[in-house]
Amino acid sequence: MKLAINNVASTFFILAGIASALSIQDSSSALKHKRGPLKPRRVQSLLINPDAQPDLPTVQAATAAASAASLNLDDIQGDVLIGMKKNRELFYFFSIANSTDFKAKLASEILPLITTTTQLLDVSTQPVTFLNIAFSQSGLLALNVTDSLGDSAFAGGQFKDLGNLGDPGSVNWVTEFAGTGIHGVLLFASDTDDNINESVASLESAMGNSFAKVYSLSRLGLVQLPSPATNDGISNPAVIGFTANPSPGQANVSSGSILVGESGDSVTRPSWAKDGSFLVFRQLKQLVPEFNKFLTDNPIIIDGLTREQGSDLLGARMVGRWKSGAPVDLAPLFDDPALGADPNRNNDFTFQHPDAVLATNQTRCPFSAHIRKTRPRADLGTPEDAVHHIMRAGIAYGPEVSTDEANSNTTSTERGLAFVAYQSNIGNGFRFLQRTWADSPNFVHSGVGVDPIIGALAGAQRVITGLDPTNSTKQTTLTTGKSFFHTLWSLAAESTFFSPSLSAIASKLSV
Ligand code: HEM
Repeated sequence: MKLAINNVASTFFILAGIASALSIQDSSSALKHKRGPLKPRRVQSLLINPDAQPDLPTVQAATAAASAASLNLDDIQGDVLIGMKKNRELFYFFSIANSTDFKAKLASEILPLITTTTQLLDVSTQPVTFLNIAFSQSGLLALNVTDSLGDSAFAGGQFKDLGNLGDPGSVNWVTEFAGTGIHGVLLFASDTDDNINESVASLESAMGNSFAKVYSLSRLGLVQLPSPATNDGISNPAVIGFTANPSPGQANVSSGSILVGESGDSVTRPSWAKDGSFLVFRQLKQLVPEFNKFLTDNPIIIDGLTREQGSDLLGARMVGRWKSGAPVDLAPLFDDPALGADPNRNNDFTFQHPDAVLATNQTRCPFSAHIRKTRPRADLGTPEDAVHHIMRAGIAYGPEVSTDEANSNTTSTERGLAFVAYQSNIGNGFRFLQRTWADSPNFVHSGVGVDPIIGALAGAQRVITGLDPTNSTKQTTLTTGKSFFHTLWSLAAESTFFSPSLSAIASKLSV
């Protein structure tokens, strides 16, 4: 059961007095001088807390876990360990116009507003609008920071990696991202668009001509996409030093899988990079009406299922979860909303069953299903692989599907996923999941096909097996051209960023 966090916070807020009177000093002594008064406290959380997702730890629990692992949650930007819990978000991509001015403003205008992990854990310490920042390789160079961060994917950017990632060329790329003109991204999040817009306007005015907006992605929010992709964000890893009580089935990863310089990150990097994280951003356009039409036209035919149920089953098997979030591994034929909404059960599976052969059986979950490709669990043996994990922190964008779009099976307004993944090593994280697992027709077994949701073969047709539980060798061909899969991809270049710790911003990037 979810805590009535907002009510608790409201009571606290009323007792605490008027918001504008509040001025909290950061507990981190290193940052005391740099961080000014926080914005007024809020009465309603800026994060969402869906039943299907595990709760965030309380401040007390996270602080205890962090102290045992020597992690400083006051120094880590709030987005990195939180996951897909944003209510509304705006990505503001900028270029640095004047390095000296920008550094000064970074220290005086941005740093005091950056939301830390600790602050996000309790409504009473959350700001009205959450702000985080990350820099691209060209952005660090623009700030005269020439140290190598030891990550070639970050240094090169995704535009250079285009062919390797199986993307169908740059034809769908957002033009502003071609080249190296994007120096960084500001992440604004809140519970209302008005809050975000006010914060953007106020920061723009404070920053003056030191930087310029290159591109922004907004209209973001918890959009109920009528596809099996609705319940994104259920399964994120539990991070040692942050997640106090992992849910059953949650992957347990070292802090160094997500945070640079922490235990488990074996790459040598400059000391100032400690507690930062690499942020991979992808704007993934989704053609939802077209996707739904494909499901309607290709139901899985099984005795006892209506055509509509057969269509739902196909969608659920492509993702590996039903619309409710229930995993097909535990609910193979019908959705089970109670299972989907229960974080103590909806992640508690390994694909292994005593009555089936793990290496061949696909009656429950296809090998190609999105969640099996991106987290193969027992397929790679036990204990589970602990290296190739990411913290997903994206958000759906765009409007609901309109009646006209649904009736015509044609998208007229763009919508999709603003994909964000944090990791300490892009080659082990996003790039590995995308390239070595999702894009490989032979992972986890020969001939299973690519991931039907995100796998790509440079625009070529994709043949997938295992989607029909009654015939595991039956092939499903996902076409290219204007199909929903091809144009699922609308990618951004130079979209790998580094989200530094607050002390790195203070001691290295703004001086
Ligand atoms: C439009 C694109 C995408 C859609 C619609 C999508 C949708 C989903 C959905 C519905 C889930 C299941 C809910 C959950 O476990 O949180 C999921 C899980 C996941 N996705 Fe995606 N996703 C997309 C892109 C990506 C990309 C680009 C990657 C990384 C390369 C990725 C990696 C993962 C991972 C690691 C999981 C969790 C698997 C697990 O722990 O069981 N996704 N995604």
